[in-house]
Amino acid sequence: MSPRFTDLLTPAAKSIKASEIRELLRIIRAKKDVISLAGGIPDPRYFPLDELEDIMRVVIKNYGAYSLQYSETKGVIELREPLAKYLYETKGFRVDAEEIIITSGSQQGLDLIGRTFISPGDIVITESPSYLAALGVFRFYGAKLIGIPIDENGMKVELLEEQLRKLRSEGVKPKFIYVIPVAQNPGGTTMSRDRKRYLVELASQYDLLLVEDDPYSYFVFDPTVDTTPLRTIDKEGRVIYMSTVSKILAPGLRIGWIASPPELARRLELVKQYMDLHSPTLNQYILLEALKRELLKKHATRLVEVYREKRDAMISAIEEYFPDYVWYSRPVGGFFVFAYINKPGFNATKLMHTAIEKYKVAYVPGQSFHPDGRGENSMRLSFSYPPPETIREGIKRIGRLIKEN
Ligand SMILES: Cc1ncc(COP(=O)(O)O)c(C=O)c1O
Repeated sequence: MSPRFTDLLTPAAKSIKASEIRELLRIIRAKKDVISLAGGIPDPRYFPLDELEDIMRVVIKNYGAYSLQYSETKGVIELREPLAKYLYETKGFRVDAEEIIITSGSQQGLDLIGRTFISPGDIVITESPSYLAALGVFRFYGAKLIGIPIDENGMKVELLEEQLRKLRSEGVKPKFIYVIPVAQNPGGTTMSRDRKRYLVELASQYDLLLVEDDPYSYFVFDPTVDTTPLRTIDKEGRVIYMSTVSKILAPGLRIGWIASPPELARRLELVKQYMDLHSPTLNQYILLEALKRELLKKHATRLVEVYREKRDAMISAIEEYFPDYVWYSRPVGGFFVFAYINKPGFNATKLMHTAIEKYKVAYVPGQSFHPDGRGENSMRLSFSYPPPETIREGIKRIGRLIKEN
């Protein structure tokens, strides 16, 4: 009899469903005539290969065996110090190097936060829609998610206030509020300064922890946009801020960081120790060398040009080809436009196969980004990977799909 090891899985491991996006990408990859606006990966043609090649050589030469040795769980101090300085210069908040934890990408930061704070049944508040792998990891640790809708100015904080009041009347305190204030994934929206202030005030009033996920604000297409982090607005130490090199340099480096409130840094460090001892030492030195050369700032300036052109191609095509009952976000950064097709009965999940087979175009149905399972009339459209002319053709095809179904 074959062993039935699947019986040994924890309920949480059993409950994980394969990511809709990954499954989709697998199907689409085999179909060369399909335009994909589904995957949200950076355009690899703009990875800074030459600079990284030189940096990697210099790292091995200068740091030698140190760069290949085990290192401190929260990251090598040579990196954490200049990173604290970089965060002050670019984001406007001061953080002590001892309160920085280098993570294996932001995704590990999210997992770390899940492990450290969530017990089964805890309430976590997110935007709706929100980043799929954050919703997934919070659920994995047993969180019950409450989603607060967004509009063009990000999370509708007045609805959050209503929700907080309701929870308080029931004697429930959420564990934390998770937000992506700039160029949200998947929403493509950015919180206004007023909304951010209001959110920080509510956190203070209800004595809540905020988790701020900020992968996209390092290259924003429109320089007039306010990208001040919640962490900079908050004066009470209630924001865990996290970011990553994935969108600024390359995701394969798997390096991110958390700027923790002082009282939590040691706990996060201890929990991370069991996950991987530390994030790759070599890649931490690569980031250090990149910071020394100001490569992040220089490369971000290049990326702004590249992704702005793609964003413009998508928005102008939407204006041309989508009917006026479609609401869509106008992203100031990031990789995504989110659309709600406000036509009774429109179901983006059910239409996905028709889109691929008949219209030769792919998007990600928006439903799974909504914690309450709504949003069947929504879709995420990514402009990060295809060239502008392909984006235009893809949107034209989706426009036909919307009008004809
Ligand atoms: C909002 C958000 N958070 C976190 C991540 C994960 O990034 P990383 O590659 O740093 O793990 C992503 C990646 O798409 C993201 O969009």
